Amino acid sequence: MGGDQWKKAVTDAWDEMADTYDAYVGTQADYYRTQVIGPGLLAACGKVRGQRVLDLGCGQGYFARLLAGAGATVIGVDISERQIAHARRREAEHPLGIEYFALDAAKIDQEWPPSTFDLITSCIAFQDMPNPFRVMESVKILLKPRGRVVLLVEHQMNGTPLREWERDESGRKIALRVDRYFNTGPRETTWTLNSGDTSRTFRFPSWNRTLEEWSTVFAQAGFLIAQLTEPRPTEKQVEQIPDLDDCSRIPYFLIFDLVPRGSG
Ligand SMILES: C[S@@+](CC[C@H](N)C(=O)[O-])C[C@H]1O[C@@H](n2cnc3c(N)ncnc32)[C@H](O)[C@@H]1O
Repeated sequence: MGGDQWKKAVTDAWDEMADTYDAYVGTQADYYRTQVIGPGLLAACGKVRGQRVLDLGCGQGYFARLLAGAGATVIGVDISERQIAHARRREAEHPLGIEYFALDAAKIDQEWPPSTFDLITSCIAFQDMPNPFRVMESVKILLKPRGRVVLLVEHQMNGTPLREWERDESGRKIALRVDRYFNTGPRETTWTLNSGDTSRTFRFPSWNRTLEEWSTVFAQAGFLIAQLTEPRPTEKQVEQIPDLDDCSRIPYFLIFDLVPRGSG
């Protein structure tokens, strides 16, 4: 799939998914998000009060709202107009001062002056982008000299072409079979989202990348990895929500804390 075809496929898929996704996120039923992704990424960002933050692939604004709630001045961008419409509606209902724009993350350097942001974030969106190197080049221009980039992506251990939980008779997860870790490139991801009484299955394009490939993208774009985190639930969280057990055993998510090379 060429760049324009990819862009159209991603935009169409997320436009189509946006209403169900917004309702699903709104239910707070996604415990991976509420217990691991959101708190893990916010903790990795550190103190954000008073910072100007750009959130890439913001969707309906889930993480932008967490940032604003922690005192940041936030702009969210997403390639899907429909996701942005939901984000703006939520902002109108509960104002936090967040601005949202429908934009391709690969082109953000054309939208703001250089050195505008203290922090650039992304919550589980970079794995849907075909050219993260190009995005990081734009990010580098918009970042203030001592700025940081904090990105959460799906861990490759959660997206390999062969990935299947072995279960016992009661359905309990025994062990994860993972294979073809190095088979990277485009893939189709399938998600079933439950919101209230409705359950719908969606397909959208995303991309498998090994840790080595991610680190190469960031190095070539001129960034150093300051910290790498594999967020996971605590024992107490697993006691409270037993279904979180799987991602306490295998990393499902990965957070990169990046600084421009030579900024220290
Ligand atoms: C899994 S959703 C995550 C949304 C949101 N960050 C959240 O945590 O709910 C991935 C989002 O990335 C967006 N996206 C994918 N490619 C993009 C691009 N090139 N530029 C901007 N947004 C993009 C999609 O439209 C989608 O809303």
